[in-house]
Amino acid sequence: MRSLRDKLGRPLRSLRVSVTDRCNFRCFYCMPGDGEFTFLPRKELLSYEEIVRLVRIFASLGVEKVRITGGEPLLRKELDKLIESISSIPAIRDLALTTNGYKLPEMAYRLREAGLKRITVSLNTLRGDRFRAISGSGFDVDRVIEGIEIALKAGFEEVKLNAVIVRGVNEDEIIDLAKFAREKGIYLRFIEFMDVGTLNRWDLQSVFSADEILEVMKKEFEFLSEGRAKGETSLNFRYTDMDLGFGIIASITRPFCGDCSRIRLSADGHLYTCLFSSSGFNIKRYVRGGCSDGRIARIIYKLWAGREDRYSEVRFEKLSGESPSFSKVEMFRIGG
Ligand code: GTP
Ligand code: 5AD
Ligand code: SF4
Ligand code: SF4
Repeated sequence: MRSLRDKLGRPLRSLRVSVTDRCNFRCFYCMPGDGEFTFLPRKELLSYEEIVRLVRIFASLGVEKVRITGGEPLLRKELDKLIESISSIPAIRDLALTTNGYKLPEMAYRLREAGLKRITVSLNTLRGDRFRAISGSGFDVDRVIEGIEIALKAGFEEVKLNAVIVRGVNEDEIIDLAKFAREKGIYLRFIEFMDVGTLNRWDLQSVFSADEILEVMKKEFEFLSEGRAKGETSLNFRYTDMDLGFGIIASITRPFCGDCSRIRLSADGHLYTCLFSSSGFNIKRYVRGGCSDGRIARIIYKLWAGREDRYSEVRFEKLSGESPSFSKVEMFRIGG
């Protein structure tokens, strides 16, 4: 098949696989505690065999990076088995996972042994009471910190932290989070609060922007800007006093759709060509309908070739403080 590009010339390189829509947290910016959620029945979930088959097909179309997401991916049983199968696909040079960290203490070593290369843990605060408020759970932040420490020992090629910064919620912890990451030698990425889904009552005023984050960081640390690597999400910065950096994912104020090479597969087998899509393409129908790998590859090829999504850029061009009102898929269904 001809080298695959979408309508804006972007290749397909990265696949984000959501393995469950369930989560043991209720972060206000993703699954607010007052929301009513219905979760997928088991039979609707793609099996590990079905996921691995699709990953192989994606690899044949140019995908080289896979990230496992949720909901909370560590809630899916025997996840190490899926990791092991995907890590044995030669074309997949990068295999990563994003987690809330709660189950890491018991899972980190098993995931590493199964072949997981990189792991990213969400950590928005170091304070117990604030952690419970943000995550909408009764859990203790120390448990997540313990998970991070065990992940560091388990020998991953990389352990990273994600901190969503929301005005009036945790912008006063930017320095503390950075200090924590520096002490442990971990790359931390600050994330601008995004208008994903329809439930999180996003407004522009709550976005603590990349510029504001940098202003805070400059008061405490010296660092240089390294820009954003092609196809990646994060603006990178390097501290001048140590061999470590930090990042900012600025989807609101510095959108990165121009070289976005990511596709998302939901736990129930739908493909989303953008994080802000309103609906997905049902590929499970073909997987379960007796289609050959070649036919499925051609269907995905056509889907990507017709893609023209650039939601964050469009939002930026008419940044009015309101998120467009069309229905958007919820983050926990496609893993961010
Ligand atoms: P790396 O490969 O380690 O750079 O990970 P990543 O940044 O691709 O993934 P991660 O799951 O850590 O996501 C970090 C943040 O970026 C989350 O808030 C995601 O929702 C957001 N993000 C990831 N991909 C996209 C994207 O294509 N568009 C937008 N707008 N946000 C994204
Ligand atoms: N805006 C920005 N980041 C978000 N995440 C979840 N919801 C949002 C949002 N509305 C983050 C999670 C996790 C990553 C996958 O996405 O905290 O770190
Ligand atoms: Fe929070 Fe992630 Fe769970 Fe959403 S999926 S509620 S962001 S831990
Ligand atoms: Fe890619 Fe859509 Fe995110 Fe833009 S908004 S970077 S097109 S997923």
